[in-house]
Amino acid sequence: MISETQKKELVVKALENRLKAYTPYSHHKVGAALLGSNGVVYDGCNIENAAYTPSNCAERTAFFKAVSEGQYDFDAIAIVGGLEDAEELDFCPPCGVCRQVMREFCKSDFEIILAKDAENIKTYKLVDLLPEGFGPEFLED
Ligand code: THU
Repeated sequence: MISETQKKELVVKALENRLKAYTPYSHHKVGAALLGSNGVVYDGCNIENAAYTPSNCAERTAFFKAVSEGQYDFDAIAIVGGLEDAEELDFCPPCGVCRQVMREFCKSDFEIILAKDAENIKTYKLVDLLPEGFGPEFLED
């Protein structure tokens, strides 16, 4: 489990990352900050595309950046999101595809931190947001 201070730091980073989201189509901006077990924070934002389906969520941007740099173990992710002109953010839960990507690399107690701001934070474990998920162990001999 990560500390309350670490959680807040991740949320602040996710809020910063949200400002970089490229969202000319949905105008829904999401930021993520992924804490590797090496202590490094990997940043992510959603990146949309005129052809729509190539769009990538903030969470997956962070995971793919980390994995492409050789990091495969993670402790927690903070996620914030909402429409670009929202005066305040609501909690923004990860989509099903991002939950499945988390299932590939994270243990059941991986912490998913949702926040409206640095003071309003909810924490879930991956197993609670993706119960009975299909993971790499199902393909082992
Ligand atoms: N989005 C994310 O970045 N993360 C999620 O888990 C939910 C959705 C993005 C995708 C798209 O760019 C926009 O939010 C609206 O769906």
